[in-house]
Amino acid sequence: MVLEINNLSKTFVTKTKETAVFDSIDLSIDKGQFICLIGPSGCGKSTLLNIIAGLEKATEGEVLLDGKAVTAPGPDRIMMFQESALFPWLKVIDNVIFGLKISGMDKKEAYTIADRYLHMTHLSQFKNAYIHELSGGMRQRVALARCLSMDAEIMLMDEPFGALDSQTRLILQLELQKIWEATKKTIIFVTHSVEEAVLLSDKIVLMSVNPGGIKKIYDIDIPRPREVDSEAVVHKMSYVLKDLKEEVEKVAKAEFDTDWHL
Ligand SMILES: Nc1ncnc2c1ncn2[C@@H]1O[C@H](COP(=O)(O)OP(=O)(O)OP(=O)(O)O)[C@@H](O)[C@H]1O
Ligand SMILES: [Mg+2]
Repeated sequence: MVLEINNLSKTFVTKTKETAVFDSIDLSIDKGQFICLIGPSGCGKSTLLNIIAGLEKATEGEVLLDGKAVTAPGPDRIMMFQESALFPWLKVIDNVIFGLKISGMDKKEAYTIADRYLHMTHLSQFKNAYIHELSGGMRQRVALARCLSMDAEIMLMDEPFGALDSQTRLILQLELQKIWEATKKTIIFVTHSVEEAVLLSDKIVLMSVNPGGIKKIYDIDIPRPREVDSEAVVHKMSYVLKDLKEEVEKVAKAEFDTDWHL
């Protein structure tokens, strides 16, 4: 087991209010597993990811990485976000080597590593392009190459394909499946799309609201590569969607008029 989350709770306290996000989360993640977190908006998916990243402190409980408590960000974990936060004034290759150079690696070695991951994300011919010359999908592939080049054991991905159109998203999902199989990284991936979660993950963790926590964990043991329209994927999706709908409805009922229903 690489990551162990024990009795984790988070409450945000501001001057005016307290927000209890989740309580008593327990979760074990094995090395090389692909985990998807799903749940309604505001259930704490990003908060959980931030705590694992060491960017946010838990109110109670602990996250153990290879048995050691996580207290701060470290080279064993890397985050990738919906907006890729690339440097528009740098070329693709220089964006990818940026973190490697900061970590003190010599330039030649950094270029060799960057080339490897630009090849893996099919961007070799664009390595000297500037970010503003690229499509949204290509930008996320640069971000993915940058993320992979840091060689962290755990990749934390917060809706990385959330802003892309559905065709580009499908292509990136297929690419990520292949990359994950080739690199055997441990990936924790937040998504709003049940389809994406079933396509990619070994396990889906459905988070709930009021009370916040884990509602259910699904093992997705469909052989890979997975196709969106295969019977097994569609069947699993409908099963997970039913539970997710209940949670989404709960949130909407609290926010919308009382005569609202799905
Ligand atoms: N820094 C903060 N200070 C106070 N409250 C916060 C802070 N960050 C998040 N929250 C609150 O914590 C709850 C969980 O937020 P979080 O962003 O983790 O949800 P999420 O599941 O990622 O939502 P989404 O699907 O919309 O991205 C929300 O109610 C949010 O308003
Ligand atoms: Mg979020």
